[in-house]
Amino acid sequence: MASSFTVCRLHTIGRGSLVKCLQKVDTFLHRNIGTNVVAVQEKNGFKSLYAVHAERQEQAERSVLISCHSRTNEKNFLKYIANYGDIQKYFFYESFGMYAVVEFANQESVASLLEGTAIPSISHESLVPFKSRLLSMRNLDSRDVLNQPSIKKGQAQTSIPINELIQRLSKEESIDQQITSLTEAYQLTEENCRLRFLVCSLLKDIAASFFPECTIMPFGSSVNGFGKLGCDLDMFLDLDGISGKNATMPKSGLFLEYQMKRANFERIVTQNILSVIGECVDQFGPGCVGVQKILNARCPLVRFTHQPSGFQCDLTANNRVAMKSTELLYLYGELDPRVRHLVFTVRCWARAHGITSSIPGAWISNFSLTIMVLFFLQRRSPPIIPTLDHLRDLAGPEDKSVIEDNDCTFVSDFSKIQLESNTETLEQLLCEFFEFYASFCFSKLSINIRKGKEQNKLPAVPLHIQNPFETTLNVSKNVNASQVDRFVALCQESSWLIQQNITAPSRGGTKGNATITPWGVSTLLLPSQVAGIKSRKRRKFEPTSERIKSLLESLKNTNNQPNQS
Ligand code: GTP
Ligand code: MG
Repeated sequence: MASSFTVCRLHTIGRGSLVKCLQKVDTFLHRNIGTNVVAVQEKNGFKSLYAVHAERQEQAERSVLISCHSRTNEKNFLKYIANYGDIQKYFFYESFGMYAVVEFANQESVASLLEGTAIPSISHESLVPFKSRLLSMRNLDSRDVLNQPSIKKGQAQTSIPINELIQRLSKEESIDQQITSLTEAYQLTEENCRLRFLVCSLLKDIAASFFPECTIMPFGSSVNGFGKLGCDLDMFLDLDGISGKNATMPKSGLFLEYQMKRANFERIVTQNILSVIGECVDQFGPGCVGVQKILNARCPLVRFTHQPSGFQCDLTANNRVAMKSTELLYLYGELDPRVRHLVFTVRCWARAHGITSSIPGAWISNFSLTIMVLFFLQRRSPPIIPTLDHLRDLAGPEDKSVIEDNDCTFVSDFSKIQLESNTETLEQLLCEFFEFYASFCFSKLSINIRKGKEQNKLPAVPLHIQNPFETTLNVSKNVNASQVDRFVALCQESSWLIQQNITAPSRGGTKGNATITPWGVSTLLLPSQVAGIKSRKRRKFEPTSERIKSLLESLKNTNNQPNQS
């Protein structure tokens, strides 16, 4: 019984989300092109992250990014572009101006479009003669601009403001629906994903001047399934293809080898490469601003803003372990839809209360928080997801991966993973998550998703979350004791709060402009009373009615609150 349920779960729940995803892609294609183009995902099986990457990268290489006037006529725009080849897909978006992403059916069309593209003629400035696939659509005929219907509103690439989200969730009928709705509102859209791969591809064009065989791949939340609209774009400059394509050495006789510059340490090579690429991005990269080279960090990186997409970008090299963590998180997220829903809700809750932040500091990172959710799901009875050790035991020879002496092996074939028959609802899981961490003994125990069990730790470290692959490292090394205290206090408060607001208020008589009463997950996103708490002692909370009253007050000023991204 248990095993048949397991198989059923794997093949129905997982496929359910996949089919939903396919429908989304299909709708997107129909809306934009009006033809039935082959869907991105396979219908009869999961795709590994590498397969998704390969497909998306290939799409990005056939694409261009065009800045256009918001009053540009859409029909004329497409007619002009179509002169250069078949348009496979396109969409418009807004990010401090209107932009279009156009994907051609083949790369030759991109080459022919670039061939027909003019160099700007300016007299008061000098141009860096680097041509990229970031273009501007100009129009010399002003009548055409003014007299015809312009582009319909482009999609925003940021998530909705938190107060709008609270209102939206308050209209839902159950906590499970609230959680699903939160995920839908915050997750990366198909278009945003495409844009991320396109930015990587544009960057690759710069790096390819030195390393023609390199690739630049997104990692982290852009591709691990837990990305929120507006999250940063982590990129990995992969140069392994160069040494990977080595000619076979003869057993005897003559052969040629490249003369290559040498350095004492791989870290120095990485720093030098990033320094040069960072300089090129700064000096030649159209739309790349605020370039910072952070080369002395544990993981050297180049940070900049890509203005046309609005993405905050971190470019790293030689960061294979992070790619593996990304792949692992992606796998966990695909195993059971509850994983992604819970991670989104907890990430959103943590951000609303300033537990996480986009500014580096002593906070808990989203990566650490995600591992905490995964650990909690491994600790359910029966567990919702398997341990990393179990995933390693299921691995075949093709999955073997050792990076800098770290065993990063785990199974990539989803069909080998048998899930247990846990039927807990999202509501139960969210309540239990807060309970679990409200009473977790952070001072003595470490979180370990490899074993799926707490381990003893040194008391001096406030929060210990074992790095899944570099097992001697703590991914939350930066977190100080007061941040752990705040986290625990908020878990206690949220656990109490959700119990008080577990059911939707009756809607009788609340028609028209009536205020929507926050309940369930919405109440968890409102300002907390324990934000500045210093001690781990449980507090006595004021009555629910008082709390709700103050929450409602805070909602009244909806337009004055800042957008939290
Ligand atoms: P966002 O906050 O949405 O950007 O989440 P993220 O998962 O992308 O986190 P972040 O940008 O901080 O890091 C990108 C990726 O680097 C993560 O997904 C991990 O794969 C990896 N990473 C981040 N922090 C650590 C760490 O402390 N140790 C290790 N090994 N990997 C890390
Ligand atoms: Mg990131």
